This record gives sequence, C-alpha cells and structure tokens, in this order.
Amino acid sequence: MVKPLRKAVLPVAGLGTRFLPATKAMPKEMLPVVDKPLIQYAVDEARAAGIEQFCMVTGRGKTALIDHFDIAFELEATLAERNKREALALLRSEAMPPGSISTVRQQVPLGLGHAIWCARTFIGEDPFAILLPDDLVLSNTPCTEQLVKVYNETGGNVLAISEVPPAQTNRYGIVKVGEVKGDLVEVTGLVEKPAPEEAPSNLSVIGRYILLPEVVAYLSQMERGAGNEVQLTDAMAKMIGHTPFHGLKFEGKRFDCGDKVGFLEAQIAFSLARPDLADSVRTFLKNYVNS
Ligand code: G1P
Repeated sequence: MVKPLRKAVLPVAGLGTRFLPATKAMPKEMLPVVDKPLIQYAVDEARAAGIEQFCMVTGRGKTALIDHFDIAFELEATLAERNKREALALLRSEAMPPGSISTVRQQVPLGLGHAIWCARTFIGEDPFAILLPDDLVLSNTPCTEQLVKVYNETGGNVLAISEVPPAQTNRYGIVKVGEVKGDLVEVTGLVEKPAPEEAPSNLSVIGRYILLPEVVAYLSQMERGAGNEVQLTDAMAKMIGHTPFHGLKFEGKRFDCGDKVGFLEAQIAFSLARPDLADSVRTFLKNYVNS
C-alpha cells in the first residue's frame, strides 16, 4: 500500500536579493500577491492536498514567517472588540493546528539540496512534498493535489513539469523524457540548468515535488553541482531506476514570483481570478493599455 502523504518541506532560507529593498527587513516569502503572502499560498495549497505537517527551512531574519502562522492574540482581541467579524473569521479559518509547523535552520546557503537535507529528521521514513513558495500556480485543482493523485497511483516520485522556451533551459531543472501517457511523463533523467544545446528536453521542473525519503541518502553525499551548490535535481537523478519517477504536465499556469515581471503578472492573474476585484482590475487595465 502507498504510504499517505502528510508532510511538506518549505525551503524559505533564500535572501530575496532580487526584491531589494522590499526584502531588506522582510522575508521575500511574505511578499503578498493581492492580499496573501506567498508562504500562505504554499501552505494553503498543501493543506488542500491533505498535508498536515510542515517543516520550514529558514535562515536569519525569517521570524515573520513563523509569526505569520501563530495566533495574533492582541489583533484578534481588538477585532472582536470592534466587531470586525469578517476579518476575525478569516484569521480564525486560517489558524494552523497546534504543533503542525516545525522549523530548522539552514545556516549556510549551500543550495536547495542542502536545504532539504537540513529537514532530514522531519522527513524520517515518510514521503514528503516540497513547495517552493516563489512558484505560484493558478489552476482549477491545486497543483499539489494533482501531484498527490499521481503519487497515490504510482507510489513513487512525482514532479510538476511545464514547457519552457528552449532558450531558457538554463534557468531550471530539465527532465529527460521516457514513456508518455497523456499528461504523465516517465522521467528517465534530470539535469540542473543545462545550456539549451545540452538540454534533454524543454520540460522544466517547477517548484512542486513529491519525493520518497530515499532522496535524503543521496543528498547526504553533499556532491556539488551547478553553481557549486548541492542540487536537489542531482540527488533526484540518482533515484531514477530505483523507484518510480514521473513528471506531471499539470493543469494550470505557473508564475515565477522570484522574478519581478513574473511577480507582477501573478498580481494581475490572481486579482482577475477574484470575483470581488476582477471587474475593477479589468477596467483599469484597459485604461492603461489604451492610453
Ligand atoms: C530551483 C531548482 C530547479 C527548478 C526551480 C523551479 O531552482 O533547482 O531545478 O526548476 O527551482 O523554480 P532555483 O529557482 O532555486 O534557481
């Protein structure tokens, strides 16, 4: 029987240099898209897929991320006193069950693979999801839920994948494609940020993974890869052939919120998807475009 997926690791130690000065005193994962911080999109998406336990891999200056998921007692008391029922109900509906968030620190920035390795005690012997909060997905079915469905069917590793322009393969982990069944692609190889002429395809890995705990043993080898960092992609590549490995061309659109243009596009797309905002946003956008 396939072990149920209940755990997620959220790597949030990055410095966010591309968003300075906004990220000087605030973690980049607290940047809001419309009215919700990036980190909360990731947590909400994971919870919607049945995940109950979270491990944030943090660094210095990331306390706001932990506070965000705590109960803000004074704020709630003030809202109650002022009869702000809607705001209060919103906060309460998002409260996390006690003990559901753990944190570990990645003291040195040695790469994504190293960040995941830092969560090894949390991972233990269980399958786990990874959500990179920089990647936002707008879809009918939350992206992680789509991956969980594949995981439940295959019992193996599953990556969310999407096509990128061939010239951009050097920005992503790229998949070597085996057998293809509709949206499901067998992964026969993985390369981190290959030059276009060396890329095995133009299918990129986006920041949503479901992995078996065996990956930790490969991460422990601490082999340096692209950018002299310990790459998750390299450790995953070592699992191919030992455990099932698939990529899912997920339904939905991915926004790279680690990039200014991607972040701005996400603001527009997510606000147009909101019934309370769509009309006014569409109206002002038309005015800008036509002027
Ligand atoms: C990381 C991964 C890469 C993946 C990307 C998705 O890269 O190393 O394989 O394609 O996330 O966003 P980063 O964006 O941290 O450079």
